Amino acid sequence: MTSRYPSEYRRWSEDPEAFWAEAAKAIDWFEPWDSVFDAQAGVYGRWFNGAKTNTCYNCVDRHIQNGRGDQSALIYDSPITGAKKTFTFLELRDEVATLAAVIRDLGVSKGDRVIIYMPMTPEAVIAMLACARIGAIHSVVFGGFAGPELATRLDDAKPDLIIAASCGIEPGRIVPYKPMLDEAIELATHKPRACLVLQREQHECDLIDGRDVDFASAMESARAAGRNADCEPVEATDPLYILYTSGTTGQPKGVVRDNGGHMVALAWSMNAIYGMRPGEVFWAASDVGWVVGHSYIVYAPLLHGNATVLFEGKPVGTPDAGTFWRVIAEHKVAALFTAPTALRAIKKEDPEGKFIAGHDLDHFRTLFLAGERADPDTIEWARTKLGVPVIDHWWQTETGWTIAGNPVGLGALTVKPGSSTVAMPGYDIRILDDAGHPVEDGKLGNIVVKLPLPPGCLPTLWNADSRFQDTYLAEFPGYYKTADAGYIDDDGYLFIMARTDDIINVAGHRLSTGAMEEVIAGHPDVAECAVIGIEDQLKGQLPLGFVILNTGVTRSPEEIEQELVREVRTHIGPVAAFKIAIVVNRLPKTRSGKILRGTMQKIADGQEWKMPATIDDPAILTEIDDALSARGFAKKAASLA
Ligand code: COA
Ligand code: AMP
Repeated sequence: MTSRYPSEYRRWSEDPEAFWAEAAKAIDWFEPWDSVFDAQAGVYGRWFNGAKTNTCYNCVDRHIQNGRGDQSALIYDSPITGAKKTFTFLELRDEVATLAAVIRDLGVSKGDRVIIYMPMTPEAVIAMLACARIGAIHSVVFGGFAGPELATRLDDAKPDLIIAASCGIEPGRIVPYKPMLDEAIELATHKPRACLVLQREQHECDLIDGRDVDFASAMESARAAGRNADCEPVEATDPLYILYTSGTTGQPKGVVRDNGGHMVALAWSMNAIYGMRPGEVFWAASDVGWVVGHSYIVYAPLLHGNATVLFEGKPVGTPDAGTFWRVIAEHKVAALFTAPTALRAIKKEDPEGKFIAGHDLDHFRTLFLAGERADPDTIEWARTKLGVPVIDHWWQTETGWTIAGNPVGLGALTVKPGSSTVAMPGYDIRILDDAGHPVEDGKLGNIVVKLPLPPGCLPTLWNADSRFQDTYLAEFPGYYKTADAGYIDDDGYLFIMARTDDIINVAGHRLSTGAMEEVIAGHPDVAECAVIGIEDQLKGQLPLGFVILNTGVTRSPEEIEQELVREVRTHIGPVAAFKIAIVVNRLPKTRSGKILRGTMQKIADGQEWKMPATIDDPAILTEIDDALSARGFAKKAASLA
């Protein structure tokens, strides 16, 4: 079939407002917009100014009115606990409306913030939708983050309420959330009024009188009293959520998502990009704490009338490398969206794909990958073993949906392994050199998007317009800086090659090396440090920290290295996967004092590297190489040009 992509992209570029006004017909609006796009509003303009709507209404209630009440909406499958439960749209609406009433009774109203710190339980999704229902702004914090990270978000978002669970469950261990929650509230300057705590049977926690409210009892009382909340009309431009993402410092950035543009973009993507028809089952094997979870576990599938799978487990070990195929078969999943690292984990345990056999994958049409670079080997393995197209696509927390992809619903384009394919309507992607000049096709440069960003992308950072401006819009005037580097080939295909900042990507999780350096530098024995991301076969990258100790420190370097690993785990969380600290005598620097992180990374990865012209003392690079080799990391074969 010939793809409709070229004509759709042209239709968008000729008249973006008409394109998005057409897409907006998929959404129910309580009041129409004054303008599709108002260039004068906000930092770079706002979409659907003046319109009133409600995201929860569009995700849940209207499907009931349109006859989908008895259709599955949320399929919870938890191999880690053995639990399974399906909610129809009607059942989901009842849970959400009840919880919305509970939240409201706890004093939360439109515009107030609610932090959700929960594992992959249905209550997490219900809590997000309940906030949306009453116009409260949720901020979900991933369970793998520790107390101090939660505290930073508390002080930035200033929530009235935290909805939390007593524990998360990782293979072989229970992760008690309550101590981290209490620590965060203790550390933060801002104190929430109340905490609504879901007690999980695997580990119940103590509740603090006067602050903590038991989730189940509150729901029970609300149900008994017949309490439920209706959908509150909100402005299309009102925030739906804040999602914190790693920046270049320890202070995460609060990405703001609005209600109207977000719904329009996501609803459009479900058919055009993912090729989904209402009523089918979609599965994003991510976590509600990440943007993929927000967009493609919760909002997009529900907006489009799809059932969505909420999977509490891992690709391997819960119980084996066949879990994904069991879930696809059992729930008749039409499309799976996951990170390449999950497939690498499966492939490592089951290279022959033996676990695939015996599962009926008849409904399974497409596998989508994002979150990190999809290596051609993994793509090829999945394609041959599963017999479905494997589609890479590139996006970020900031955009909330695909910047470049292969729009299956419009008719898939030829896959070029290693490329995330082409710009989606809404995105005018350019490759610029550091001075802001366009580079030729095939040449590496900074990937930027011409403003305005399309609906769904962040209009700003929470309470930080000028940080938004400085971080994303200042370096290349008129463009949004993605902080990814890459190139476009002669066919217009985009290749994402690297980050241009200090963000690393560990198992599809975006982490700031700057944040880890802040923790390490806080250790009393540490004089200086540099964290880099080194290549890892399974997780893509792993953080590695070089550390210089203060003069006069007499404790053994090994002991301090272990302490630093523990410190990063307790300050940032296990998700940082920081397990390698190496004490060295000196760090390589330029004459102006800039640490040569990029060169150290190349040495660690065994890549070719050039002696930087501005290096202060070239001998230090040999010391780094030796320190890495001593730990079995450096591949000394790499040439020293
Ligand atoms: N709560 C508490 N701890 C968590 C957690 C959570 N929600 N999620 C992860 N962790 C912990 C893990 O238990 C692990 O702890 P450990 O150091 O004690 O082993 C650590 O954080 C690192 O986790 P992870 O990077 O996930 O590694 P893993 O070895 O447990 O699993 C994979 C490896 C590849 C199976 C796993 O990373 C995976 O499924 N990745 C898919 C990524 C993904 O979905 N990304 C979202 C973007 S699409
Ligand atoms: P996050 O904000 O956590 O979604 O991470 C976004 C970053 O992950 C991007 O800026 C890229 O660096 C990386 N990324 C996401 N998807 C891809 C992809 N398909 N190919 C290469 N890198 C990707």
